[in-house]
Amino acid sequence: MSQAETLEKVMTQPPPATVQGSRIYDKLREIDSVPRVICVTSGKGGVGKTNVVTNLAYSLCETGKRVLVLDADLNLANVDVLLGLTPRFNLHHVFIGKKGLPDILVEGPGGILVLPASSGIMELANLTESQKLYFLGEMEELGSKIDILLIDTAAGINSNVIYFTLAAQERIILLSPEPTSLTDAYAMIKVLSSRHDVKKFRVLINLARSEKEALSVFRQLSLVADRFLNTLSLDFLGFIPYDSKLPLAVRRQRLVTDLYPDSASSKKFRKLSEQIVREKPDFRADGNIKFFWQGLFNL
Ligand SMILES: Nc1ncnc2c1ncn2[C@@H]1O[C@H](COP(=O)(O)OP(=O)(O)OP(=O)(O)O)[C@@H](O)[C@H]1O
Ligand SMILES: [Mg+2]
Repeated sequence: MSQAETLEKVMTQPPPATVQGSRIYDKLREIDSVPRVICVTSGKGGVGKTNVVTNLAYSLCETGKRVLVLDADLNLANVDVLLGLTPRFNLHHVFIGKKGLPDILVEGPGGILVLPASSGIMELANLTESQKLYFLGEMEELGSKIDILLIDTAAGINSNVIYFTLAAQERIILLSPEPTSLTDAYAMIKVLSSRHDVKKFRVLINLARSEKEALSVFRQLSLVADRFLNTLSLDFLGFIPYDSKLPLAVRRQRLVTDLYPDSASSKKFRKLSEQIVREKPDFRADGNIKFFWQGLFNL
């Protein structure tokens, strides 16, 4: 065996901890509700999107919801790293016909489901009509077994981030108290609202030192948004405090909600998930998972 072949073999060997495939899919039961599709985006990088998505997913699972996380960050599989997962197959393998959608599902801590996307996301735009139809069919079936699809996007206002944000039914803009985060969040809202007619956003503040600081950041964002983009609706969803336990958990590739359930941020993640579960979002046809992907194909 050549060195390259050995390396490839090592790289494609899954470690025993990551369970992937139809074993996970088969135990999912049908759910009698239309799944919600929620996308978390930010403008500026490093404000905590991936941590918010994964910890929120964990807390939502604790409430009994079936949550699927899609890592739409094309650069790095951050979700996998944070959850300590190393999936062997991803959307690419589905698109080349090597695997079915059920074969690539991965289960993370607390029963979070992860749809490993990786480079497969790039291929979305180049699928043939029959590939799209096949994929949408499989997605519809998966959609009938989950309550919430949570999407983690990359940083920056590039077309991929915009596509996912547009296709999702609900959008959470995440920002931190840093001034650059505020300006970047505003820029993101501006593009989505003026070029794509998105008028409703929910705002979540991460890394706040207090509720007062979080509210002040939200107020600043509302003020600029009101001044330049009237007709916009910004809702304050809440805040996640700066928590020294969170980076400790990250270093161990564990979720803070899992490793330190009593820490300040974990308590807020639980509160946030309970709030989200209590909501009665207006379900439109495009809230359905299948329509989410259809929306992506059409953009
Ligand atoms: N509430 C918090 N308290 C303390 N540290 C935090 C908190 N949220 C995030 N961090 C720190 O910020 C780092 C970056 O977070 P994360 O990777 O989730 O950001 P991101 O927005 O997904 O970044 P990118 O834009 O690169 O994808 C984390 O590794 C963690 O150390
Ligand atoms: Mg990230």
